[in-house]
Amino acid sequence: MQVWAVANQKGGVGKTTTVVTLAGLLAEVGYKVLLVDLDPHGSLTSYFRYDPDELEHSVYDLFEQLQVEPERTRGLILDTNREGVDLMPASTALATLERRAVGKEGMGLQVAKALATQKQSYDFALIDSPPVLGVLMVNALAACNHLLVPVQTEFLALKGLQRMIRTIEMVNRARRNKLEYTIVPTFYDRRTQASVSSLRELHRLYEENISSAVVPIDTKFRNASLKGLVPSSLDAGSRGVHAYAKLLRNLLERRRQGKVDG
Ligand SMILES: Nc1ncnc2c1ncn2[C@@H]1O[C@H](COP(=O)(O)OP(=O)(O)O)[C@@H](O)[C@H]1O
Ligand SMILES: [Mg+2]
Repeated sequence: MQVWAVANQKGGVGKTTTVVTLAGLLAEVGYKVLLVDLDPHGSLTSYFRYDPDELEHSVYDLFEQLQVEPERTRGLILDTNREGVDLMPASTALATLERRAVGKEGMGLQVAKALATQKQSYDFALIDSPPVLGVLMVNALAACNHLLVPVQTEFLALKGLQRMIRTIEMVNRARRNKLEYTIVPTFYDRRTQASVSSLRELHRLYEENISSAVVPIDTKFRNASLKGLVPSSLDAGSRGVHAYAKLLRNLLERRRQGKVDG
């Protein structure tokens, strides 16, 4: 099973959209996908019409005890309206976790352990991360074998990106194998100077890690989320879906070349 996390220490950059769109595209070609919502806001959970305020069981349960049991983990997984895509949901209780987890040993691998118990059932797991560096993001980064960092193509977003890169460097000092990441430019509008010049700056600063697929501004993403559909089910021909399809091709190609372990 390949595990990809999507993270950026900034909200509204397209993290949840990236998770949902890639999941739909992977399912379309027959892969089994498990989504994991680690954001206490539960946007990914709400996307599929589950209410994070009402759910009795969620990824929160993984943090109640150190030991992670396969059956109990299986019991947390919900269906979605997209065949081939399942969801381990968030609940608002997750917001209390950062406080509770402080000082507790070994809580950084709970999600990795949970995913390991499900690896026979899925080809891919995609993790949506919260915008804060804490125990949940640490879990996401520890569990994944590749990281996607969506970045809005505007200058303020570049500052937020620097913070995320520092986090990756910190994580890499603790990891056995280096965490590889791909920066995904989002909300690109080629008619605006801000978009064009910040994309150029991203290339200059992060040449090695920047995706050649650039996600344009596309209102279809919002329409899809209003309907609770993965974007490729709503409109497979949209420009936004095309960009994510290109990103996916590049990621799968990397994996074939053995650049992504797991
Ligand atoms: N490329 C895009 N073009 C237009 N709207 C987008 C795009 N990506 C995401 N959105 C919309 O912007 C909002 C924030 O995106 P979201 O994926 O929830 O960000 P995050 O998870 O980083 O907070 C959502 O309403 C989403 O539908
Ligand atoms: Mg989100």
